[in-house]
Amino acid sequence: MLFSLVGVSLMIIAHVWSLRITDKTSTHFTEVDGLPETNLDDLAGLIKAYSSSKVGKTSKVWTHNYVTPYINMSAIRSGTHNVYVWQTEGESMLQKWTDLLFSSGGKWYFDRTFEDGAEGVFAVNVTSASGEKILVSRDLLDSVAEMIFLEQTVLQRDEIATVIDIGAGYGRLARRMTEALPNINYYATDGVPESTYICHKYLTKHQSRARVVPLTQVEDLVTSQPKLAINIHSFSEQTKVDVTFWVELMARAKTPYFMVVPNAFNVKEKVMKFNDGSEMNSIFNSAGYHLKTVERGVIGSYTFLWTL
Ligand SMILES: C[S@@+](CC[C@H](N)C(=O)[O-])C[C@H]1O[C@@H](n2cnc3c(N)ncnc32)[C@H](O)[C@@H]1O
Repeated sequence: MLFSLVGVSLMIIAHVWSLRITDKTSTHFTEVDGLPETNLDDLAGLIKAYSSSKVGKTSKVWTHNYVTPYINMSAIRSGTHNVYVWQTEGESMLQKWTDLLFSSGGKWYFDRTFEDGAEGVFAVNVTSASGEKILVSRDLLDSVAEMIFLEQTVLQRDEIATVIDIGAGYGRLARRMTEALPNINYYATDGVPESTYICHKYLTKHQSRARVVPLTQVEDLVTSQPKLAINIHSFSEQTKVDVTFWVELMARAKTPYFMVVPNAFNVKEKVMKFNDGSEMNSIFNSAGYHLKTVERGVIGSYTFLWTL
């Protein structure tokens, strides 16, 4: 009895501590270590603040011109080759993936997070396993597939756990996971100021519990006691210096699980790659991570799960 009371108390203390940086208001973060305040509504300020970081500088992909067309609420999710999520598949493929997700336990998620068709997203009506019409998008289906993967490997649906999403885009998975998983404490961060700005706007619009952590404040994440770090279609587009920064940060935070969906990889050799074809695994190994599994997701992407 005494042990279980002590255990429960420790869990509560750990949870309260992990919420330390969430106590701040949703739009403004005050630096705890004396750095200037970062206002997530001020794009020019974010660009200036990020320019003094070594992270996010040298990427050939993530230039200002690349993301500027999406700094507009009605365009954030628009375009077949949207910079955050490609949505090139037609109705028949989205129907097929919906069927696969329903047969893999996806109903629980489809009952909790929905496609509203906003921000220019490409969405179609398909028929669910129970015969109802539901609106789906690549955003929704990818997110449900990723949550099914996590449920099968790392996260219980009702678990109290902290998740850090690095390169969170406009907040696709942040929104879905906080809608579907009641006790998840979710931090979305990024190395590109425009993405941080868009993510803040998008998550605020959808009243998400997820918190956007600006690059200027990521050091605070070291004490957030995360269970899981996530990087989806982002590390392959970054430099080795940046990936090393993020992986070492998560190792310092003692994050036990790291889920990565790389753009480039060799499944047979179980190697994640940068877009230029060079390998990425050694960065994880040097930080103390070991590859636990490589799995083909329900709708195709390969996911690498690392443990510390
Ligand atoms: C293709 S998008 C994927 C977005 C999101 N993970 C998703 O799956 O919806 C790549 C993301 O990585 C971010 N990114 C690019 N370079 C970065 C860097 N050096 N550090 C952190 N994030 C970066 C971009 O701003 C963008 O949000």
